[in-house]
Amino acid sequence: MPKRVLTTESGAPVADNQNSATAGSGGPLLLQDQHLLEKLARFNRERIPERVVHARGSGAYGYFEVTDDVTDYTYADFLGTIGKRTEVFLRFSTVADNLGGADAVRDPRGFAVKFYTEEGNYDLVGNNTPVFFIKDPLKFPDFIHSQKRDPFTGKQEAENVWDFWAHAPEATHQITWLMGDRGIPASYRHMNGYGSHTYQWTNEAGEAFFVKYHFKTNQGIRCLSSEQAAETAGKDPNSHQTDLLQAIERGVNPSWTLYVQIMPAAEAADYRFNPFDLTKVWPHKDYPLQRVGRLVLDRNPDNVFAEVEQAAFSPNNFVPGIGPSPDKMLQGRLFAYADAHRYRLGVNHTQLPVNAPKATTADNYGRDGYMATNAYGRDRKNYEPNSFDGPAETGRALSAPLAISGYTGTHEAPAHTKDDDFFQAGELYRLMSDDEKNRLVANIAGGLSQVTRDDIVEKNLAHFHAADPEYGKRVEEAVRALRED
Ligand code: HEM
Repeated sequence: MPKRVLTTESGAPVADNQNSATAGSGGPLLLQDQHLLEKLARFNRERIPERVVHARGSGAYGYFEVTDDVTDYTYADFLGTIGKRTEVFLRFSTVADNLGGADAVRDPRGFAVKFYTEEGNYDLVGNNTPVFFIKDPLKFPDFIHSQKRDPFTGKQEAENVWDFWAHAPEATHQITWLMGDRGIPASYRHMNGYGSHTYQWTNEAGEAFFVKYHFKTNQGIRCLSSEQAAETAGKDPNSHQTDLLQAIERGVNPSWTLYVQIMPAAEAADYRFNPFDLTKVWPHKDYPLQRVGRLVLDRNPDNVFAEVEQAAFSPNNFVPGIGPSPDKMLQGRLFAYADAHRYRLGVNHTQLPVNAPKATTADNYGRDGYMATNAYGRDRKNYEPNSFDGPAETGRALSAPLAISGYTGTHEAPAHTKDDDFFQAGELYRLMSDDEKNRLVANIAGGLSQVTRDDIVEKNLAHFHAADPEYGKRVEEAVRALRED
């Protein structure tokens, strides 16, 4: 007998794992061969739907440690004491490509953190960019359709990518970011993470603040040029996964320092930019970075499918002291993620080990559904209120209430004095060195010159002109030169 016996899924010993059962030595298979049937049937069911965006990703565990006092701004328990550590799981990702793509591509990177706090899991689902392409969730499916594979050609099409952007002047800031030097990170370790949206913090006294999160990499920023990326993607399509996995296996644990920008809630209405517009940053001179703590990754998952593919982050998972802002994009995301998880993983995805709370337990009256494993029974009632000491509400809101006014309807987000679609894109362009500008212009022209329709090209050029006349002129010249080639 071998030391460890191979069994069927119901635990019965397997006699032969090399030869299936047949009627006679040369005859057809026997339907009674349970081991063969089970093995083939399970194999057919190994795949689940991939994420509709951010399909390719890598994950790791670690901890977050508070280094600075932020209790004037939030009563979140996990941020409440200097030195306090909270376990985290972080999943990095690329956005547009399907599971079979490559890591070294020009694309934003996802930076999704799950803090397993004693008051429940807090998910901060951000990117490596402080802004985004659009500011209304209604546009998200169209935007993503234009960036992913075309339904007819089955591949990404420059025409679709730039046609969407021709109709989205608010994307000019993020396009300038993406086509610039930081557009292709060398690895997940060498990039920053941002919450991107504005969130709300509430302190013990009930005062509200608006905050933006910045995770600054302690490994230094490293990026690839378009040429280096093409070579890397060809040599090792999983270059980011290889780098992260191997660094942590070697004990070279990557870390990030968390800073926040904090705006007292009363300043939001008169700030020169709409503070809830995801296509804008808050200049640091208006709201300086304040250090909060350190995030360290020190453990690779044992099983990529169980822990990375099945990881489920929802921007709607808040803990007391933290809440959403009225940013329309964020509000749309509060719905989209848990809905995606129910489709992709099922209603009980929160019971999977990577998604379940670790520092506390979920205790509520949600029951049953496919694959339920929390078999509450006996004296655990499934209704509330009850007379049997079941879990009960606290009566304390997680975050402060926000005043609202106006009429219902399909509104554009209110524009503040300095709000337009181009000013901050121009500011970013003017910050760049001449070399950086040259690479930015070449990257944009490389994509835009592939578009055959003049009207789509012209609309995009108008956006760069509006951001900065020199920026527009240089992109126009570079596109013309390539199209005439
Ligand atoms: C209204 C706009 C958006 C919608 C509707 C949306 C929707 C989604 C959906 C459906 C997924 C797949 C979730 C899953 O299957 O597990 C996803 C993943 C993701 N999204 Fe968004 N998204 C939006 C905007 C954004 C923005 C602005 C950011 C960053 C600031 C972002 C960051 C991410 C990240 C990091 C993931 C991957 C999470 C993971 O690692 O599992 N998304 N998004």
